[in-house]
Amino acid sequence: MPTPAPDRRRPARRRRVLTGDRPTGPLHLGHYFGTLQNRVRLQQTGVDLFLVIADYQVLTDRDLAHRPAEHAENLVLDYLAAGIDPELATVFTHSAVPALNQLLLPFLSLVSVAELGRNPTVKDEIAHSRQAAVSGLMFTYPVHQAADILFCKADLVPVGQDQLPHLELTRTIARRFNDRYRTDLLPEPEALLSDTPLLLGTDGAKMSKSRGNAVPLGATEDETARLLRGATTDADRHITYDPQRRPGVSGLVRLAALCQDRDPHAVAEEIGSGGAARLKATVTEAVNEHLRPLRTRRAALATDRGHLRAVLDAGNRRANAVADATLAEVRAVMGSV
Ligand code: TRP
Repeated sequence: MPTPAPDRRRPARRRRVLTGDRPTGPLHLGHYFGTLQNRVRLQQTGVDLFLVIADYQVLTDRDLAHRPAEHAENLVLDYLAAGIDPELATVFTHSAVPALNQLLLPFLSLVSVAELGRNPTVKDEIAHSRQAAVSGLMFTYPVHQAADILFCKADLVPVGQDQLPHLELTRTIARRFNDRYRTDLLPEPEALLSDTPLLLGTDGAKMSKSRGNAVPLGATEDETARLLRGATTDADRHITYDPQRRPGVSGLVRLAALCQDRDPHAVAEEIGSGGAARLKATVTEAVNEHLRPLRTRRAALATDRGHLRAVLDAGNRRANAVADATLAEVRAVMGSV
C-alpha cells in the first residue's frame, strides 16, 4: 500500500479576509451597500477581518495626500459607525507597517514591466490621474496591493470588479514566489465579488466622491434631502423601475428599495404617477430612516478623536506583528541573512 502523502496543511486558523479603501474622503451610500454591509456580515461570521487604509495608494494619482491622518481617522469613523468592531477586525494604514512595504521588493522581482503595463485598471487610473506624469508608484501599486494581501496570507479578498486584475496579479505573485523558492508559504487568495450591482449616484452615473454625485453616510438629513432633490430624473411622470431605459429614476427607486429591503418594482408601483417629486421624497425618507442609527453612532464616535486614533494604533500594532512574522518567513525561504 502506498504511504499517504504527509499532511502539509497549515494548522487550523480562522479564515482571513482582507480588503480596504483609499482614504480620500468620507464613505457614501455606494460604499455602504456595495461593500461595508458585506464586511460587517463577514465579521459577524467569525472570520479574521483586516481592513487596510491604503494611504500610500492615494499618492498614485495625486502629488500630495491632503491631510492623510485626518482622512484615515474619518475612515475609521465611518467603519465603526457602520458596525465594524475593533475587537473583531484589524484596521490599519499600510504606511505604518514597514515589513509589509518591504515585501514589495521581492514581489517586484517576480513581475515583468510588460505585465505591469497591461493592467487595465492602472491604464484607466492613468487616464484619470491628477498627476502631470505617470509615477513609478502608479505603475507598481498593484504589486504593493499584493503585499497588502499576502502579508497576512488572506484567504478571501472582497472587491469590486475593477480590482480583479490586481487580485489576479496577487495570485500570480504568490504562485511564482512559491515556485521560485520551492515553498508553500504564500496562499493564493480568492476574490469575493459583491453581488450588489453598482449603486448609481444622483446624476445617474456610478456613485463616486470625485463625481460629486454621492450621498455621504455622515450627511445630515437636510443635506441628504438637498442632494437627492438635485438628482437627475426624466420627463416621464409615471415612475417605473427600468434600469436600462431610465437609469436616473431607477437608481433612486433602487436606493429606496435597498433601504427598505423591498423589491424595486413594488417601490416604483407604489409611487406610480406621483412623479419625480414623490419619488425623491420617498427616497429621502427611506435613506434617512435607514441611516438614522448609523448616523447617531457616528455622531457619538466623532466627538472622540482619541478613540479613533487608538483603534488605528491597535490595528497598526497587530498588522505589524503579522507582517514582521511573514517577512521573517519570506526572508528565511529566500535565504536572506
Ligand atoms: N485598490 C483599492 C481601491 O482603489 C484599495 C486597496 C488597497 C485594496 N489595497 C487593497 C483593496 C487590498 C483590497 C485589497 O479601492
